Amino acid sequence: EVVDATGLHILPGAIDVHVHFRDPGYPHKEDWASGTAAAAFGGVTTVFDMPNTIPPTGTADILAAKHAIASSKAHVDYGLYGLLGEDTIDAVPALVEGGVIGFKCYMGNTFGKIPSPSTGAMLEAFEVVAKTGKRVSLHAETNSIMERRETRLRAAGRTDPLAHLASRPAVVAIEAVSRAAILAEWTGARIHILHISSADELRPLREAKARGVDITGETGPHYLMLSADDYAKFGGIIRVNPPVREKHNQEPLWAALADGTIDMVATDHAPHTPEEKTRNDIWTVDCGFPGVELQMPLMLTAVSEGRLSISDYVRLSAANPAKVWGLYPRKGTIQPGADADLALVDLGKSWTVDDAKLQSRSKISPWHGRPVKGLPVHTIVRGKFVMRDRVLNADARGWGRSVHAIQEMPPAVVCNADQTMQAVTQAGVSKGQAA
Ligand code: DOR
Ligand code: ZN
Ligand code: ZN
Repeated sequence: EVVDATGLHILPGAIDVHVHFRDPGYPHKEDWASGTAAAAFGGVTTVFDMPNTIPPTGTADILAAKHAIASSKAHVDYGLYGLLGEDTIDAVPALVEGGVIGFKCYMGNTFGKIPSPSTGAMLEAFEVVAKTGKRVSLHAETNSIMERRETRLRAAGRTDPLAHLASRPAVVAIEAVSRAAILAEWTGARIHILHISSADELRPLREAKARGVDITGETGPHYLMLSADDYAKFGGIIRVNPPVREKHNQEPLWAALADGTIDMVATDHAPHTPEEKTRNDIWTVDCGFPGVELQMPLMLTAVSEGRLSISDYVRLSAANPAKVWGLYPRKGTIQPGADADLALVDLGKSWTVDDAKLQSRSKISPWHGRPVKGLPVHTIVRGKFVMRDRVLNADARGWGRSVHAIQEMPPAVVCNADQTMQAVTQAGVSKGQAA
């Protein structure tokens, strides 16, 4: 197929490693067709889908059913997360066999009421996953802190949007990141910190990196561009976990993207309906909002404002996610004729976000009315136009493939826990023999 690309820039398609496409389970919020259409319109050629669907993606059978749905409807390529919870540790080998891109562990409560594992279960889970070489992505918020604070705020009669932020001070994330990093260090597990929202989390992240822990992190446009100052304007629409924080967090997050502490941008695309986002009592408002379609325009706006360079953007949106999840071509492996995942963008195009025009089934977001500069005009997945001239290619439905098939993680490391266990066992054996 031929296209006139005059005036456009060709970028690698973005890899959004954090989306919730709700399928199976909540088709009124999103499904694989609408979610991947949104991706295609956003210049996103690969998405990693979270496991808090119904049923949660915690067994090989459930994973197989989700693969079947995704492969029949997806317009772009995808990876599926397996759920790493208290009850799914034994399922890890079968989930790896069944084709997960990695695992997701919820340390804090989330949509779909997935219980968070105890620290003991997390340690065991990390030991098991470490042997598979896969990465564990963490929703790093400490449940017990949030629950106590929320109970007190509710008892005090607080139902306003800022009460949500008050229930989740940054210590919630600092504690969880620190604990996850310690468990990763002990077990040799590779981990990824999802949705970094605060400047305070950067310290445990930097320290863990300095100690040699295989730890990576992401933040999203909402933490970079929105702040507590926006709660009055957007009310429950801005409610998301972790919460959008005080403005003073923004500069350190930008700096962390520039210095490599934070490895990538991802959106936590979390669609809900207008009814679900506009309830009067903040505690009953569903958390999250759509994002997969707007990441590229929002970040390219930052590029045009001189916030970051276009090559920084490509590193954060495509190259680093590919490297971290073993999808990056090794030296010398790119051959003529290799498949192309590309976004052709008009960097000079100024426009205004209109929620009503989003491809996502969720037509409500705190981005509504925001002026942006930069628009994906065509999106190509493995050489095929999935979106052309801002029109979805209907033939591309079902073109998306799971990228687990081409994933090559580095070999699993020998973990500390195994060595300790071996030493204990040997000591026990020799003592027994001596007696
Ligand atoms: O705001 C959020 N929305 N945070 C989460 O952890 C889950 C997500 C969702 O699934 O709606
Ligand atoms: Zn999360
Ligand atoms: Zn999420």
